[in-house]
Amino acid sequence: MAEPLVEVRDLSVKFDVGRKGFWGSERQYLSAVDHISFSIAPGEVLGLVGESGSGKTTTGRAILRRVPAATGSVHFRGEDITNLDGSALRLLRRHIQAVHQDPYGTLNPRHAVLDIVAEPLLVHGMIDKVEEAREEIQEFLDVVGMPADSLDRYPHAFSGGQLQRIGIARALVLKPEFIIADEPVSALDVSIQAQIVNLMQDLRNELNLTYLFIAHDLSVVRHISDRIAIMYAGQLVEVADRDSVYESPAHPYTQALLSAVPIPDPEIEARRKRVVVEGDVPGLIDPPPGCRFASRCPFAQDRCREESPQLRPIAATHEAACHFVGDIPPLQLATGK
Ligand SMILES: Nc1ncnc2c1ncn2[C@@H]1O[C@H](COP(=O)(O)OP(=O)(O)O)[C@@H](O)[C@H]1O
Ligand SMILES: [Mg+2]
Repeated sequence: MAEPLVEVRDLSVKFDVGRKGFWGSERQYLSAVDHISFSIAPGEVLGLVGESGSGKTTTGRAILRRVPAATGSVHFRGEDITNLDGSALRLLRRHIQAVHQDPYGTLNPRHAVLDIVAEPLLVHGMIDKVEEAREEIQEFLDVVGMPADSLDRYPHAFSGGQLQRIGIARALVLKPEFIIADEPVSALDVSIQAQIVNLMQDLRNELNLTYLFIAHDLSVVRHISDRIAIMYAGQLVEVADRDSVYESPAHPYTQALLSAVPIPDPEIEARRKRVVVEGDVPGLIDPPPGCRFASRCPFAQDRCREESPQLRPIAATHEAACHFVGDIPPLQLATGK
């Protein structure tokens, strides 16, 4: 494999959430990301999937250096960026850009589209006034499929899907190599979601981009991802090539996520097997020992509550973190084949 563009090694992120008990002097930490490792090759799309609160956004923010790493490192193009600061960090931020979940909340309603999209150029000192970038911004807006007269209009004039196109144009304007798309379609109507995912797919091909594409369910990332990493309670439970995830999911949590994805054929949908998980997600402050999924896993045994399973290879391009991977019955996904 070519040298990874992004390499995350043993990364943890903890948040200080105050003192333990009313009289306590000891501080408490929430373990949002716990010793995760993965890499992304140049031009690749890695889907990062897990339910709300599993640590996906925090992972992205740690790569962007918006939150510090408690353990581990992040390498970009072979360089350790974990502790960059000052001008080196500013330079790095040109290469890594983010597309956010909520285009309504992240685009300033008082700024015209030109100002919004040109802002990164101003911030990075590439232009002195937004007017200088008018033609360039117009081109970016064309690329993302915005109407020709968008430049001087304000966010309220646009639909959610169009606002996300503006958000994407803004992420592209510094010509980054790597984009962290944090649930870029979760806030959009289902009918619009595919259009935005397709746009991102086209841009990836045309501009040779690499993505970390975050989503909370497996249906969104299926077509765009080369590989998929499944996150649960701050840890990675499965990382595999796309087809393995959908055709032979190994971890019980991945199976549960997948059995929640609707199948369009109603007959197959009616007789498919479902893995239903009950119980609670463990607390992330002082999480219990053992597998974090054990409290909800239909296959959990004593060992699972005692010993934390490590992510390990189960096939050439497939890793899973489960003590009983070989014993978990395969999910009979009636795919219609
Ligand atoms: N700034 C913060 N301070 C304290 N806790 C946080 C902070 N940001 C995130 N968390 C907690 O970290 C965990 C992971 O959050 P997040 O990364 O946003 O998950 P996801 O994006 O998968 O929904 C959650 O329990 C969340 O409440
Ligand atoms: Mg999130």
